[in-house]
Parts: sequence; structure tokens; C-alpha cells
Amino acid sequence: MRGVAFAFFASGSVAVLAGMVWGIQMSVTHDHGLAAAHAHLNLVGWVTLGLFGLYYAQTPAAAQSRLAWVHLVLAIGGVVLMVPGIVLAIRGGNPALAALGSMLTLASMAVFLATVLRHGLGRAP
Ligand code: HEM
Repeated sequence: MRGVAFAFFASGSVAVLAGMVWGIQMSVTHDHGLAAAHAHLNLVGWVTLGLFGLYYAQTPAAAQSRLAWVHLVLAIGGVVLMVPGIVLAIRGGNPALAALGSMLTLASMAVFLATVLRHGLGRAP
């Protein structure tokens, strides 16, 4: 079975593919109004999820824990809510969705810190 590291890399790749298409669309239309949302999709969706995936690929004990899947759901949920939330906020709408996504993203990082402190980095000796 493909594990949590695979799931982080796969979802991060989906995010950056969407982010790149969005970046090309911004370039072509000369409309950079949503650049902040594009940046968050790429940085939180690709860079952050990718770093999490790298960690789990290197640390099997962490990858085998149930908390790793909770971490995945929080991290993906954060991106999925935060990016459209930023779009809404930039367009003058309610910032609540961006705030909720930010909270999930913050929670995912807290779970990651707890995981790193518990399992360390790399294979157990
Ligand atoms: C095909 C790939 C990409 C294209 C065509 C693209 C295009 C753009 C464009 C047109 C802007 C607006 C620039 C401006 O208003 O000054 C922008 C901003 C930005 N992009 Fe991308 N981008 C791409 C990929 C990425 C990736 C992979 C990342 C991060 C990992 C990234 C991070 C950023 C950041 C941080 C900003 C600045 C946002 C801001 O100033 O609010 N981009 N990009």
C-alpha cells in the first residue's frame, strides 16, 4: 500500500500543477490581482506538503503512526480552504474561509512539530 509520504507528494504535485497553470494564466492576462492566493497555493500546497512528504519518507516510524493521516487531512484541508478563502478576501468578501483554512494549516504544523519531537528524524538505529 502506498503510504502517507506518497499521499503528501501526490497532493502537493496536484497543488503545484494548479498553481503553475494559475501563474501562466496571470502572466497571459497581465492580471496579477490574485498573486497572493497563487503564492499560498504554491508555498503551502507544494513546498510545505512536499517537505512533510520528504520527512515521512525518511522517518518510517512517524509515517506508520495514525497521527500522520490526521496530519495529512489537516494539511490538505488547510490548503483547500485557505486558497479560495484568500481569493474571496482579496475580492472584498468574507475572510472567514481564509481564517478557517489558516487555522487548519497552523494545526497541521503543530501536529508536525509534535511528530518531529516524538519520532525524531530518520530511521531508528
Ligand atoms: C509556471 C509556473 C509559475 C508561473 C507562470 C508563475 C507566475 C506568477 C506571477 C505572474 C506572479 C505575479 C507577480 C507580480 O505580481 O509581481 C507570481 C507571483 C508569485 N509566485 Fe508564482 N508562478 C509560477 C510558479 C510559482 C511557484 C512554484 C511558486 C512557489 C513555490 C510561486 C510563488 C510565487 C510567489 C511567492 C509570488 C509573489 C506573490 C505576491 O507578491 O503576492 N510561483 N507568480
